[in-house]
Order: sequence, then C-alpha cells, then structure tokens
Amino acid sequence: MSGILFNRSRDVEGTVEFYTQNIGASVWLDQKQCIILQHGNLLFSFCRSEKIDAFGCITFFYHTKEEVDSMYEKLKDVATSEPQVNQQFNIYNFFAKDPEGRTIEFQVFNHRLRPFYLSDECLVLRRSVREFSNEPVSDQLLNEVFDLCRYSPTSKNTQAFYFIKSRDKKLIKNLAAQKERGATPLVRAPLILAVCTDPNKTIRPEEDACIAATYLMLAATQFGLGTCWIGGMNTKAVKDILSIPEGHYIACLTPIGFPQQIDITLPKRRAVAEFVKEI
Ligand SMILES: Cc1cc2nc3c(=O)[nH]c(=O)nc-3n(C[C@H](O)[C@H](O)[C@H](O)COP(=O)(O)O)c2cc1C
Repeated sequence: MSGILFNRSRDVEGTVEFYTQNIGASVWLDQKQCIILQHGNLLFSFCRSEKIDAFGCITFFYHTKEEVDSMYEKLKDVATSEPQVNQQFNIYNFFAKDPEGRTIEFQVFNHRLRPFYLSDECLVLRRSVREFSNEPVSDQLLNEVFDLCRYSPTSKNTQAFYFIKSRDKKLIKNLAAQKERGATPLVRAPLILAVCTDPNKTIRPEEDACIAATYLMLAATQFGLGTCWIGGMNTKAVKDILSIPEGHYIACLTPIGFPQQIDITLPKRRAVAEFVKEI
C-alpha cells in the first residue's frame, strides 16, 4: 500500500524541474495534467491549475547529517534557515522554499526509526556490519525478521533451513575462536545466528542455506539491524559448540545487532557490463 500527496501548481514544469534537478526526485508517472514524483518512499504530485497549494511542509529525510549538510550546500540560495539540531523532535534539519513558495524541509532523525526502506534501498544499503551498539535486540523484533525469511526460495519448497540463535557471551567467544581471523564481529553483537540446513530434508542443502542466509541479511537490514557473513569456520568445532548434527550444513554464522553507526559509503562494486554477458 502506498499514497500520493497532490498539490495544485501554476508552473508544473518549473516545479518538477526544481525537485528533479535539485532534490533528486524522479518522475514516477507523467499523467500530463499531473506529474507524480518519487523521492524514496514519498510520492508527491503537481497538477496544472490556476491556484497553488502551498500549505504544510514537504519533508525529505536522509540517513546521515552529512547528507543534510550536502543538501544545504546545494540549496543555500533558497534556504530559509541553516541546518541545526531541533531538540524537541531530536532531529537535525533546515527549511527552504520551492519556486512556488512551498515550505520544504531536509532532515535526519537522530534516533532509531521503524523500517521505511524500499526494496531497492534495502538491497543497496545492506552492509557487512562489524561494530554494534549496546542497544538490545528483542526477540519480538527478531521474530519479525525471521517472519520475512519464511519467503526464502528452497529446492522443491522443502524449507529445510533453520537458524540457531545464541546470546550466550561465553559460547559466542568460543565460536569466534574457531577461526584464526575475521570472526571478531561475532563477539561485538548482542547475539549470533547460525544458518543451517538438514540434508535429510533437501537435496540442495548448500543452496537452500545460502539463500536463507541472504534473505536473513536483507530482512535484518529492513529492520535497521546489521549482520556480517562469517564463513570458513572450523565446522566440526562449531557443530560441537552449537549441538548441530554432524551431517548438517552450516552456510554461515552472523552477528546481529544495531550498527554502531550508519555508514552509507558503498564498497566498490563492478559495473553491470562487467558481470552480464549476452551469448
Ligand atoms: C561467503 C562470504 C564469507 C565472508 N566471510 C567474512 C568473514 O569471515 N569475516 C568478515 O568480517 N566478513 C566476511 N564476509 C563479508 C565480506 O567481506 C563483505 O560482504 C564484502 O567485503 C562486501 O561488503 P558488504 O557486505 O558491506 O557489501 C564474507 C562474505 C561472504 C559472502
């Protein structure tokens, strides 16, 4: 479900140009009479009219303070205030005017939010997180993450994957010691998960478990939680510690928790042309 905010406008083209060129909105649907724009999960529209709707305030929000500052640098000429902390709402924001006099606001919330990512944002923003805050992760929130993992595809829909969860600090430390390097993120989170499959229930234990682990990491992102794929462990020792039957497959271990900080810088990625080959 979604919604659209419609505004009357005397200069649809000029207004649309302002929001697309300066603010990074894109045209979602051009109905000629009304042009509907998209900015993240916000759909808003300008419709041809003799009148202008300029009430309220259109607020664009970002993941970091740096992004708000960068918008301010771009929009200084039309800004009506400088970026500042607003204690009442625990935000950092500034205001500006669009070409028809509407109030627009740019802000970051200085506190945790309920999920609002679009699926494409979720794919782009999932990061391997290796430092976590002390904020507890409730079983209720984890269950919301696990609920999304139910939709992971599995061979013949056998759904043979399962997760083992532990908050036991001593056990987690022991697990992290089962790999010479690269497993320390496990001890920095409030809990860990192991993603496994039972090969007696699926003919594709590796694929089923790896896809479920990927779903887990994307679902966690959706709820603001960070994860990090930790592979290459001493499997026998990990199975002993977590009481996983010998023949079962372990795709990975992952810490899970709220990231210590949100980092929107993306690790380098290949261009599409480098990994798509038409034959
Ligand atoms: C199969 C696999 C094994 C990985 N093993 C580790 C690991 O042992 N320790 C670690 O810190 N990160 C590990 N990672 C995370 C990668 O380093 C990370 O995905 C990569 O650098 C890209 O960064 P991103 O996940 O933030 O996009 C692993 C990732 C995959 C897919």
